[in-house]
Amino acid sequence: MISKIMEKMIAFSEGNIHDIDHFIRVWTYARTIGELEHIEKETQFILEVAAITHDIACPVCREKYGNTNGKYQEQEGMPLAGSFLADTGMTAAQIERVKYLVGHHHTFTNIDGVDYQILLEADFIANATENSWSAERVENFMHTVAKTDAGKQLMQSVFCLQQSSFSL
Ligand SMILES: [Fe+2]
Repeated sequence: MISKIMEKMIAFSEGNIHDIDHFIRVWTYARTIGELEHIEKETQFILEVAAITHDIACPVCREKYGNTNGKYQEQEGMPLAGSFLADTGMTAAQIERVKYLVGHHHTFTNIDGVDYQILLEADFIANATENSWSAERVENFMHTVAKTDAGKQLMQSVFCLQQSSFSL
């Protein structure tokens, strides 16, 4: 099922390698963190689908607003994710949760589940590496938003941070 959704999302991206590479990377980090944290199978599935589809509104936002501002993406992404997933065999409840995650992936408050938490951490790692964000910005995220041990450990490894600069 995940590979079918991945295949469909790659086709949906119409050759935009930047977008494709981004969601593949976010999915890889999300999947890794979820498995290392031993989250429930159902939650892991929701997380992986959300990681693959979280930026589904990027093309439409570029066209409609000329940018991929987070709030526009959240607004436009929910209905798009719903129609994109409608024929995948997912249940209505699963699709609702993925839509919610797509609609909140730039919102760092009221994080109401481990799927949401890990999606934020995985997207942050991918964005920080793609945009060469400073060590200061990474450490700030680790202190204020990151929660999972596996996510923090990955950030420490990816960004070569000193163990002493934060507490796991
Ligand atoms: Fe993203």
